Amino acid sequence: MIEVENLTKRYGTHLAVDCISFDAQPGEIVGLLGPNGAGKTTTMRMLTGFMPPTDGSARIAGFDVVADSLRVRQNVGYLPEHVPVYPDMTVQGYVSFWARLRGVANVRQQVDAALEQVQLTDRRKTLVRHLSKGLTQRLGLAQALVHDPAVIILDEPTIGIDPQQVIEVRDTIRQLGDSHTVLFSTHILSEAEQVCDRVVIIRGGRIVAQGAPATLRQQLQSGAHLYIEVRGANEAKIHEVLSPIKDIQALEVEGNGFILRVKPGKDIRAAVGERVMQAGYALLELRPVAMTLEDIFLDIIKRN
Ligand SMILES: Nc1ncnc2c1ncn2[C@@H]1O[C@H](COP(=O)(O)OP(=O)(O)OP(=O)(O)O)[C@@H](O)[C@H]1O
Ligand SMILES: [Mg+2]
Repeated sequence: MIEVENLTKRYGTHLAVDCISFDAQPGEIVGLLGPNGAGKTTTMRMLTGFMPPTDGSARIAGFDVVADSLRVRQNVGYLPEHVPVYPDMTVQGYVSFWARLRGVANVRQQVDAALEQVQLTDRRKTLVRHLSKGLTQRLGLAQALVHDPAVIILDEPTIGIDPQQVIEVRDTIRQLGDSHTVLFSTHILSEAEQVCDRVVIIRGGRIVAQGAPATLRQQLQSGAHLYIEVRGANEAKIHEVLSPIKDIQALEVEGNGFILRVKPGKDIRAAVGERVMQAGYALLELRPVAMTLEDIFLDIIKRN
């Protein structure tokens, strides 16, 4: 439904998006995850036909974003980073305006459905200028949905709104995934993990990793980390006792115990237990530390 091939964007000499390729299947929710300046907005602008790529290609619902830009716009709903609103319109007026602009056949019905979907039905007569930031964001969503596009592209839809609204917007995105292909950008890892079927991580215009959140975690985790707590041994002693175990990459103090960073694919639990007891200390605790996608993300960013 979304096919991106070697897509590249240069602003002057600055390479903002550098030869990225990914796709999204019908009904899939894909998260474009990356820090500020990673190239998320630039990618989305190219996918929505707002800006031509410098190189490479992209297709939305089978239509090329350059050659068929008009058809692309009919098939895509786009919530930009900054929602362009007209403060003197009512909520309903604003959404109808967009529906008519896009040649929707049954404006009344589609507007009602869109307002219902973003839970703005009871605000339909409210002036746009009187909406809170969270409600304005939902209005932007309604605008993106009103022509019932196959693909919905949302640029950081949860930025700058309060936690309750964030939850509601995330719920709406999940619901949209039932009947649409959704691409949304975020720099919040836990959000991508909660909402997406698949995550594409970009940094400096390049894809550094992509896959299902669970798979990514498995692949990228640089090794299962262990937490241990030992009675009677300080950091120097622990270093000495565990130094023969070569699969330990690093040892850090954590609360009353230590985190051992372990080489990928190695299980050193038995060896650690043995060494500690042979040295005459009591092993109070030994457990794997689950790495969050957050940790993994920071890890990747550091490595790149
Ligand atoms: N119109 C432009 N002209 C020149 N450089 C630009 C332009 N728009 C973006 N850039 C640069 O391109 C890079 C990617 O920007 P982009 O806005 O796509 O990133 P982003 O991932 O959306 O970041 P953010 O999280 O801050 O929204 C950045 O280095 C940015 O400074
Ligand atoms: Mg952006």
